[in-house]
Amino acid sequence: MALSYLAFLQGDAFVPGINDLVHGNKKEGIVSYQERINSGKVAIDALGNYIKFKKSGDVTNAEKELATFRTHENDFGYGYYFGKDPHMLIPNVKMSFYSFHIMVILGTWFLVLFALLFYKIIKENLENSKTLLRLTLWSIPFGYVASQAGWIVAEVGRQPWTIQNLLPNIAAVSQIDAYSVQITFFLFLIIFTTLLIAEIKIMLSAIKKGSAH
Ligand code: HEM
Repeated sequence: MALSYLAFLQGDAFVPGINDLVHGNKKEGIVSYQERINSGKVAIDALGNYIKFKKSGDVTNAEKELATFRTHENDFGYGYYFGKDPHMLIPNVKMSFYSFHIMVILGTWFLVLFALLFYKIIKENLENSKTLLRLTLWSIPFGYVASQAGWIVAEVGRQPWTIQNLLPNIAAVSQIDAYSVQITFFLFLIIFTTLLIAEIKIMLSAIKKGSAH
């Protein structure tokens, strides 16, 4: 029920599972991936034909193909999986599941930690709470871990789509040479490593200076 509220803001909505999406669920009006793949193929072919007829000035046939395309356009991206295993449309469940849980556990930990810190600051005895200060110090890396885990949730969870239902990754790959990607990668690596070193130095010198009191 909670998931139904989260997804649809009502308590009795049907939340499809992976099997419902892959194999379809007639009762709930969900078509299977294979049906969407077939329908998407019709859309891709119709678009190709439309362009051909339009170029040759055959308006009647162009209109016909456009109408076919319009009927199937919501499944367009699925068409690229024609002849392929529909299970390829499922993202890596374990990876998104565990990354999400790591992120949320850390997020909850931060809420508890900040509440404790806030309480101690109000009571004006934060300096004497050695354990809490140590926990706070050791929690610094967790912020980075949570961010990376969140990013994994977002990136892995959206697979295999570049644009949901319209453009799958297999159709979105650009023709750039591998070496230009490598050059950009190493440039970013150098810039961000330099920035990281600078940031660590600044943080360490701020820690050495200590607080104003
Ligand atoms: C109770 C705690 C949290 C909940 C419920 C939560 C929920 C979510 C959800 C649902 C997403 C996926 C969004 C999407 O792509 O659709 C997400 C992404 C993300 N989360 Fe969290 N999150 C929590 C804590 C945190 C914390 C503590 C951090 C970092 C310190 C964090 C960093 C991120 C990042 C970087 C993304 C990826 C954003 C993107 O690239 O689109 N999250 N979070």
